Amino acid sequence: MAKNGVVIHYLRTAMKKEIVLSGIRPTGFLHLGNYFGAMRNYVRMQDEYDCYFFVANWHSLTTHPDTKTLQESVLRVVAENIACGLDPEKVSLYVQSDVPEIAELYLYLNMLAYKGELEKTTTFKDKVRMQPENVNAGLLTYPVLQAADILIHRAVKVPVGKDQEQNLEMARNFAERFNHRYGETFPLPYAFNYNSELVKIMGLDGIGKMSKSENQMTTLFLADEDDMIRLKVKKAKTDSGPLAPNSAKPDYIQNLFTLMGLVSSADTVKKFEDDFNNSSEGNCIIRYGDMKKQLAEDMVNFINPIRTKALDLQNNKELLLKIIRQGADKARTSASATLSTVRKAVGMEYL
Ligand code: ADP
Ligand code: TRP
Repeated sequence: MAKNGVVIHYLRTAMKKEIVLSGIRPTGFLHLGNYFGAMRNYVRMQDEYDCYFFVANWHSLTTHPDTKTLQESVLRVVAENIACGLDPEKVSLYVQSDVPEIAELYLYLNMLAYKGELEKTTTFKDKVRMQPENVNAGLLTYPVLQAADILIHRAVKVPVGKDQEQNLEMARNFAERFNHRYGETFPLPYAFNYNSELVKIMGLDGIGKMSKSENQMTTLFLADEDDMIRLKVKKAKTDSGPLAPNSAKPDYIQNLFTLMGLVSSADTVKKFEDDFNNSSEGNCIIRYGDMKKQLAEDMVNFINPIRTKALDLQNNKELLLKIIRQGADKARTSASATLSTVRKAVGMEYL
């Protein structure tokens, strides 16, 4: 009997799914970069892993102190995640501020984070440049709060875009420091993408990364109307075409091919690749106008169902509130178990 018990325990441990966590800040409308850098992986991971996904509303206060539209944005992010295929019955989908355990872990981790290393992070330096009038302590300790988000569930895989690599490295450093000082408590988390390479989707001008706050005309939002998508794609930068067969593609052209690779059929991509490679001076086969028309229609077909489903969900606030309540319950069960271990390790339990 005892032997059976041991075997069952062993099997349970061996079968235990790895823990996955990721978050998105509710600082605007979600776009194609969020989808291909993060959400597409969330959806694929939900069957294989024990998943926690959340809306980082505390993080958004570091750059967006005005909270008039915050709740609306939080619910929209939840709706858009579900519209992209997340199943709230399979994962825990919650709002950061509904899990106060994260804030306590953030406090302990803050004692292990040094001013010098925080000041050196790229995102902090960028934000200082962007908002010199509001260099708050929350901005400085942003990576510490992010580490608390991850470690509170003892997550090991964190599906994020390439821009988050440094924050993940810092989370590992804080976890290692905690383990070293207070005893082995946290596994080390890593940024994750199915194709091993982290993704970076560029804006339609091929210059900066597509982002919620950069140039709105070069970002394709999941909430964009069909005609707006057509207009944005039409305005994407092109040139008069290659002058020799198999030329190197300029960044902005490569970007159109990359986007096409994400939403169009393989045959379509191949046709335009062939046209590009077989073009030569006086015989430019590729017609960028046609390519952009095709890309626009495929984009519309991709985004339209997500936008429609997200809008339906946003009209059902009761359902969204029920989902985040349920998500918070699941998340707090996991978070409070970790926090209890952490409190003991740090010496906060008097028993
Ligand atoms: P934004 O940069 O637009 O404000 P967030 O910082 O909230 O978006 O990012 C949410 C998730 O989407 C993160 O995992 C981030 O790495 C990913 N992401 C954001 N923009 C891109 C992009 N252009 N390409 C790939 N992934 C991205
Ligand atoms: N910093 C992330 C971003 O800007 C959002 C985020 C907050 C996050 N906490 C996280 C991502 C924890 C992954 C894990 O995109």
